Amino acid sequence: MLHPTDNPRPLGGVRLALKLVDTVVKKRPLYTQLIVTRRCNLSCGYCFEYDAKSPPVPTELLHQRISALHRLGTFHICMMGGEPLMHPEIDVLTAHAARQSQVSITTNGFLLSDEIIDRLNNTGLTWMQVSVDQVKADKSLYIQKTLKTLRTKLERLKERARFRILISMVLCEQTKDGFRDLIDAAHELDLPLGISIANDASGQISVKGKEYVDLCDYYWEQFPAPQMVELDYGRRLMRGETPKWTCRGGSRYIYVDEHGEVQACPAGEQKGKIGKQIVDYTDADVAYHYTSAKGCEKGCAVMCNYRASALDNQPVRTIATFLKNIARVPVVAARR
Ligand SMILES: C[S@@+](CC[C@H](N)C(=O)[O-])C[C@H]1O[C@@H](n2cnc3c(N)ncnc32)[C@H](O)[C@@H]1O
Ligand code: SF4
Ligand code: SF4
Repeated sequence: MLHPTDNPRPLGGVRLALKLVDTVVKKRPLYTQLIVTRRCNLSCGYCFEYDAKSPPVPTELLHQRISALHRLGTFHICMMGGEPLMHPEIDVLTAHAARQSQVSITTNGFLLSDEIIDRLNNTGLTWMQVSVDQVKADKSLYIQKTLKTLRTKLERLKERARFRILISMVLCEQTKDGFRDLIDAAHELDLPLGISIANDASGQISVKGKEYVDLCDYYWEQFPAPQMVELDYGRRLMRGETPKWTCRGGSRYIYVDEHGEVQACPAGEQKGKIGKQIVDYTDADVAYHYTSAKGCEKGCAVMCNYRASALDNQPVRTIATFLKNIARVPVVAARR
């Protein structure tokens, strides 16, 4: 008998490839983030995207939002928060989303258990990104996602998960000194590592200078393929340049907040600017925001949006990077 989250037909293989072509050619949303709860069990010092008390968004509402993203032809839905594993039906949501889109979860990993991994295994989840900022514990608690707490969880994940796993860290003043140690640890764990560059509440880059550029260069040597497109941009920001780009928030990238409202990105200043619920969002809205000027592109370090916009801004380079990344992220299940 099927469990409610056993997904008989998650999108994959040829259907997924065709979907990607359709998304690219018809300029549909490529990468979307769906807030399933604003609440988080941690309080990282650099974060502006959580609170300590919001309830989970009701599953029924999230189903409607996911269906709206499907209607728009969305390629990828990332379950996001706050902490998405705090949603009691994250597996049910993932299974629903995976029927017509590729799905990932970005998590701080603290709530991972064998039980939740098993529940997610049959949903059609493609990958889980576990955020880990450094190796050692930080007594100030500015940095809370450390390998000290997460190593065992990651090892269990590698052992048990049938979806891909990657780790991701935020490069900021508090993590720069332990950056090389984290790279070594990622190699040791045999997991790909992604980096985000810390941005402030309005999306602007918050770290600059040669020290950070050197760290990015070191990262690039160690992990040659990932994030080539946005890391190159990030390094230029760190050098004080402000490269021109077209932000396609509300179009190629969509952020659906806990109220179901579409935002161009998580930055506070964007709140209410698009002013439309995802359930009412149309192809015409996606087309309009493909080129609508956001006015805050200069110095912006919201890398997920930069990446999703890069397909149209630098098509050849973006596709080459995407293909290299696919080849690198290990499918844990396939290795067993
Ligand atoms: C907002 S969190 C939500 C998901 C989950 N709680 C987690 O930490 O993975 C999503 C991602 O954004 C990153 N992040 C949070 N604040 C950031 C900031 N100011 N600059 C860059 N990345 C940030 C987190 O480290 C995490 O990888
Ligand atoms: S765990 Fe994620 S959502 Fe929670 S405070 Fe840290 S970065 Fe923000
Ligand atoms: S340029 Fe785009 S991603 Fe950056 S802050 Fe503005 S709306 Fe957000």
